[in-house]
Amino acid sequence: MKIIEANGARIPAIGYGTYTLEGQRCSEMVAKAIETGYRHIDTARMYKNEAAVGEGIRQSGIARDDLFVTTKVWWADIAEGKLQASAREAIETLGIGAVDLLLIHWPNADVALEESIDALNETIDLGLTRHIGVANFTSAMLDEAAALSEAPLACNQVEYHPFLSQDAIYSACRRHGMAMVAYSPVGQGGDILENAEIVGIAARHGKTPAQIVLRWEIQRDGVAAIPRTKTPERLAENLAVFDFELSPDEQAALTALTLRRKRLVDPSFAPNWDRV
Ligand SMILES: NC(=O)c1ccc[n+]([C@@H]2O[C@H](COP(=O)([O-])OP(=O)(O)OC[C@H]3O[C@@H](n4cnc5c(N)ncnc54)[C@H](OP(=O)(O)O)[C@@H]3O)[C@@H](O)[C@H]2O)c1
Repeated sequence: MKIIEANGARIPAIGYGTYTLEGQRCSEMVAKAIETGYRHIDTARMYKNEAAVGEGIRQSGIARDDLFVTTKVWWADIAEGKLQASAREAIETLGIGAVDLLLIHWPNADVALEESIDALNETIDLGLTRHIGVANFTSAMLDEAAALSEAPLACNQVEYHPFLSQDAIYSACRRHGMAMVAYSPVGQGGDILENAEIVGIAARHGKTPAQIVLRWEIQRDGVAAIPRTKTPERLAENLAVFDFELSPDEQAALTALTLRRKRLVDPSFAPNWDRV
């Protein structure tokens, strides 16, 4: 497994995304993901599945230090005091000790960035997490957050796939030594996977379109991806992206598709996204 070195955090390049998974099914899939070889699990307070994720991790029997676990505090809870309380609840709910990475899930225009970044830093001192980072930050917000943060930020988790360029955010992540963690990395299983260019490259490599897309992401320096699936067979499929390489021409062909700028996740509270 490729590891992304990000300001002291060592992030496995493919993680298991758990959004929408709940209860016993979630625990079973998390345990199965670990059995399949995943060493990075992504959850959030908002997914309401931290207890099930923690249960799956315990069921797997894996040594805690062999696994990289991320959770996120919701944007409504990032004021001083609230953020630390939410992080504490997350850790109690997961029941696996400190997480490896704690993220602010979305920026919040009503809370000063300095206040939320200070509170985030305190979660390290409180022993709730080993590393901190953000999600859904624009490149300008990332510059500001990196300057304010005492501990270096490990990542910005953002939507990224072949139909959405994130060049401005990618450059900002590189500037600050941070990883860019790609969410919705297989385009939520939509028309990306039927794109003729991608299907053609997949046929040439004897791989699936999802594997081509994930490979394109993680072949870029400093990028990790966290595909989600509730289909047991796809766990192995989405992890089997380390035994082949895309040529520079193939990489460029997928990169050309990013100019479509097809954003899948854009809630009312999203920031003013970077224009590329
Ligand atoms: N920070 C944020 O604001 C944020 C936002 C969104 C997501 N996330 C994180 O990122 C994770 C992934 O993003 P996502 O859930 O939006 O989208 P995604 O991983 O791009 O897509 C998941 C969908 O794709 C399908 N799929 C997965 N692997 C496939 C394959 N090999 N072939 C065909 N279809 C496949 C799944 O179907 P089946 O389940 O039926 O197999 C599911 O419907 C989330 O689970 C969450 O952990 C974070």
